[in-house]
Amino acid sequence: MDYAATGEQALARIAAATDLDSLEKLRVEFLGKQGSISGLLKTLGAMSPDERQTTGPKIHALRESVTEALTARKAGLEQAALDARLAAENIDLSLPAPEAPRGSIHPVSQVLDELAEIFADMGFAVATGPEIEDDWHNFTALNIPESHPARAMHDTFYFPDKDAEGRAMLLRTHTSPVQIRSMLRDGAPIRIIAPGRVYRSDSDATHTPMFHQVEGLVIDKGIHLGHLKWTLETFLKAFFERDDIVLRLRPSYFPFTEPSVEVDVGFAIQNGKRVLGGSGDAPGHGWMELLGSGMVNRKVIAAGGLDPDEWQGFAFGIGVDRIAMLKYGMDDLRAFFDGDVRWLQHYGFSPLDVPTLSAGVGAAA
Ligand code: PHE
Repeated sequence: MDYAATGEQALARIAAATDLDSLEKLRVEFLGKQGSISGLLKTLGAMSPDERQTTGPKIHALRESVTEALTARKAGLEQAALDARLAAENIDLSLPAPEAPRGSIHPVSQVLDELAEIFADMGFAVATGPEIEDDWHNFTALNIPESHPARAMHDTFYFPDKDAEGRAMLLRTHTSPVQIRSMLRDGAPIRIIAPGRVYRSDSDATHTPMFHQVEGLVIDKGIHLGHLKWTLETFLKAFFERDDIVLRLRPSYFPFTEPSVEVDVGFAIQNGKRVLGGSGDAPGHGWMELLGSGMVNRKVIAAGGLDPDEWQGFAFGIGVDRIAMLKYGMDDLRAFFDGDVRWLQHYGFSPLDVPTLSAGVGAAA
């Protein structure tokens, strides 16, 4: 038998294979269990030792060269297939966006993205906590004990059953429990914002049973009210995109901060509408209450597992829906959660308009 000729024929057919399927058929034909070269190998057993001495290497060489040719051809065909796909599947990034985009970004999502962008630039990470809370995280650890009147201030939705540890379960009434969870989980120092849904049994044009807050928490050494004021001022200027935002800090009370400050922002009346900016004391101006804040109460720092002699901090809580209404000019909070596509089409934002500090966080509506 002319092994050299058999080999040449096989190699020619392999070289002529134009796709992976036909190449695989050739592999089976030559090297499969019933394959021709496999069959040749089986003849070795019946040969005389002399014959095997001369023929064996030829058959093995034949198998070797065919195997190599198959592997090489396979790699070549795969590369060609990949090249063809790459050529066919290119994306033209210069194509314009579709003229009628479907759907839009809800103003709350937009504002949450803006908040995260602004605070990330100041070194704040985003933290989250559960909306179904227990009364220890939501109240007790925040220095609101069982009998405290502040528990009644929050119109809390309670669940009928307690958790395994006997704690009353509820829908969180504010994002402040994330303060406790962050301290217990991460220790100090901390620089976070915690945006999310909160729930209170309350409903009118400016209150809905579910709304959004963003909590801010900084824990470090030597933190004082000046840091709080600078942080809020820097945030509000970036958020409302005006340098003339003026803040007024008023003494207030929250069980979890001491001292506590209510932050007002100055506005002017223009065309019957409130426009933020300038001192609220100027003629024709006024002050609008914007958020609650203060230095974190020592008891709260201790409840978070930290030593209040070593660590201090400030916290603030902002109504996200409220600042969205202020910035983008909606006047009824209930419409936020009606799911009316006409409202969303009017007030929603383009999904392609991602808020960035460099481009200005306030997207064009
Ligand atoms: N949790 C408070 C509220 O819901 C807001 C707040 C947060 C006040 C942090 C002070 C510090 O009204």
